[in-house]
Amino acid sequence: MELSSITGLKGKVSVPGDKSISHRSVMFGSLAQGTTEIHNYLMGADCLATIRCFRKMGIEIEENGSTVLVHGRGLHGLSAPSEILDVGNSGTTTRLLSGILAGQPFDSKLSGDESLNSRPMKRIIDPLTQMGAHVSSILRNGCAPLYITPGTLHGIHYESPVASAQVKSCILLAGLYADGETAVTEPSLSRNHTELMLREFGADIRSVHDIGSTKATATIIPGNELSAQKITVPGDISSAAYFIAAGLIAPDSEVLVENVGINPTRAGFLKVCEDMGGDISLLNERTEGGEKIADVLVRTSRLHGVTVEGDIIPALIDEIPMIAVMAAVAEGTTVIKDAAELKVKETDRIETVTDNLKAMGCDVTPTSDGMVINGGKLKGAAIHTLLDHRIAMAFSIAALVAEGNTKILDSHCVDVSYPTFYDTFEDLL
Ligand code: S3P
Repeated sequence: MELSSITGLKGKVSVPGDKSISHRSVMFGSLAQGTTEIHNYLMGADCLATIRCFRKMGIEIEENGSTVLVHGRGLHGLSAPSEILDVGNSGTTTRLLSGILAGQPFDSKLSGDESLNSRPMKRIIDPLTQMGAHVSSILRNGCAPLYITPGTLHGIHYESPVASAQVKSCILLAGLYADGETAVTEPSLSRNHTELMLREFGADIRSVHDIGSTKATATIIPGNELSAQKITVPGDISSAAYFIAAGLIAPDSEVLVENVGINPTRAGFLKVCEDMGGDISLLNERTEGGEKIADVLVRTSRLHGVTVEGDIIPALIDEIPMIAVMAAVAEGTTVIKDAAELKVKETDRIETVTDNLKAMGCDVTPTSDGMVINGGKLKGAAIHTLLDHRIAMAFSIAALVAEGNTKILDSHCVDVSYPTFYDTFEDLL
């Protein structure tokens, strides 16, 4: 994909359904009794991998556009897959599904693409093993492919070293099959879609923010059957972030992004935009299915550098590539820290972001848990996405304000979370 600079982005766009919520809707719908009706499901490669895996375990799933019907068979209704479960590039499918598979009375194997099979799975193997599950890394390298055989699960209280919604959700889902209460405490609150949605499905799940600390604990008490729900998936704030950023940094622009999920555990990006001096407002705020939603209006703004650190990091972890690009054209210095988790995403995003920013002429220094960016001007370059969807999209926005042409290599990787990204992009031009 070749892109060049542009001014005057005007108009309104809506982005596809939230990736995290889409995954969960099919997973929980499969484990519920009855037919779950999902609207605005994200038809990206990651969420299609989740549908594929549940079909392989005997769940009938109908698709019609972005509407999905999941004919759930109850907590004990999955059947043994006849082949290895292919999770593609999807960390969420891998980690949440492993928690479910740990509670099943059959053997299963799951494996993904090269990137997925190099991401750390010890972070779920350890707590699942503590619960009595039998989960192993087939190559003994702490990564997928994983082999899961039946075990008797016990409730545990797990103190997670990382604020990860995938780890938390994996353990809570295994907790559905445990003989007692399962709790997960994390150092700061990660996205809470599992807690919100499982509660809607009828699970007994509680969340508390530990008083006087940043820690948060979610507890599941097994025993309740799940019942089918009707779900409308809000627009994905992680996808909206690209057009919000475009509206802020492209000269003479005004962009309205409609129907964006603004769950506080996900909305850190909006706060950073504001802190950087962005002209950003939330319109038409509402709550659906426990999730907050709003339309986001942005206008071209003079952005300045900020420090992004601490508890807000889990609420914007996937938006850091976009924040880094905004920082690269802002006035002054931006420091991003406490974000070592970036190293274990689809690529090592400290490296992919800083390498590509350097290629565009930015003064940026990677650190062990983030980066330091001195804002200035960007020039067009060849962007090596390394097949990371968020790198492709963040640097497509960088191209809009860079001098000269930018070439996004392997831009098709946007299919992972936003197959229509470049169509929406053109609508705004
Ligand atoms: C996700 C959690 C986050 C996020 C990922 C989706 C989820 O990962 O980066 O894109 O749906 O639970 P971690 O749990 O590894 O932080």
